Amino acid sequence: VNDKLRVGVIGAGRIGRIHAQTLVQAIPQAELVTVADIALESAQACALDLGVPRAVKDIADVLNDESVQAVVIASASDMHAEQIILAAQAGKHIFCEKPIAASLEQIDAALDAVEQAGVKLMVGFNRRFDPNHQRIKRALDEGEIGTPHMMHIVSRDPAPPPLDYVRVSGGMFFDMTIHDFDMARFLLGEVDEVYASANVLVDPAIGSAGDVDTAVIVLKFANGAIGTIDNSRQAVYGYDQRVEVFGSGGSVASGNLHPDQVTVSTDQHIRRGLPLNFFMERYLTSYRVEMAEFVRCVLRDTPPPVTGVDGRLPVVMAQAALRSYQENRPVRLSEVGG
Ligand SMILES: NC(=O)c1ccc[n+]([C@@H]2O[C@H](COP(=O)([O-])OP(=O)(O)OC[C@H]3O[C@@H](n4cnc5c(N)ncnc54)[C@H](O)[C@@H]3O)[C@@H](O)[C@H]2O)c1
Repeated sequence: VNDKLRVGVIGAGRIGRIHAQTLVQAIPQAELVTVADIALESAQACALDLGVPRAVKDIADVLNDESVQAVVIASASDMHAEQIILAAQAGKHIFCEKPIAASLEQIDAALDAVEQAGVKLMVGFNRRFDPNHQRIKRALDEGEIGTPHMMHIVSRDPAPPPLDYVRVSGGMFFDMTIHDFDMARFLLGEVDEVYASANVLVDPAIGSAGDVDTAVIVLKFANGAIGTIDNSRQAVYGYDQRVEVFGSGGSVASGNLHPDQVTVSTDQHIRRGLPLNFFMERYLTSYRVEMAEFVRCVLRDTPPPVTGVDGRLPVVMAQAALRSYQENRPVRLSEVGG
């Protein structure tokens, strides 16, 4: 009897390859049986590297395979909702990368299909599974810093993605800030209102593609706390990922991770190396933990730790942030269907 979860990965780009590698190398309870990508050579290269038996171009070849029990959707963001619906109709459990879609109609159609099919859906908010963020969450849950008053998230990428990616990403609020919106909810609960100030300061081509690359977003939480998110598409010193929550009894903060813990001290400087450069390194542990949690929730038939609703609400926040930026005013989530 094979009691491993048989999984297909859809989309073998940057993150699809990480998930495929995790499934093959870090999760003994799973078996990666097929990699699919519309760019067949990407699927083939990924499968060859990892010793996966099958690479296909058409996701129908994954969905029609009755032996496949679950899929990991890591295709371009504008394909997720449609692929969730097809996978649900085929009776597959689903792990889907963020965002589910940029439109709430599409998200609701996808969540309806999941519910009707009775399959599980987990959304890829990996940062919740980072050990630092887990520790911050525990500090808040256990009241270590009293009542939270403020939250600050600094979240800056080392370099912008390719313009082809920008065009199908839904824009920075939906692609990048979405993780920070989720982190805000994860740590301090629901947000009522956002105010976004944003600009194109890194690369005019991003502006020409209709997006922004720099933003500060002020959040008002339902519990009265106030938060900020600080985003840039380009921090020249590498991936900058910091969180602080300040409260009545103190503060809890996490810093960047470095490849080593070494400082070099001379009569001129105290130096250390740059932080881990990007998500593939910085969040590797979180990707392992989230995929292990997905496989476990399917095999044990328990609720997924990040649900469809958890996938929907940050999109509402992103829509409110976009409208706030466009109209230059604070926007309540209820204005955009929250
Ligand atoms: N959670 C995270 O930390 C994280 C990190 C990066 C990307 N992502 C998300 O993962 C998704 C992919 O991002 P990426 O950086 O890997 O992009 P990418 O462009 O590197 O890879 C996307 C891959 O999907 C393939 N693809 C596109 N449409 C497809 C379709 N219809 N069927 C099958 N394959 C298709 C492309 O050929 C490409 O190989 C995006 O939604 C992105 O938001 C999440």
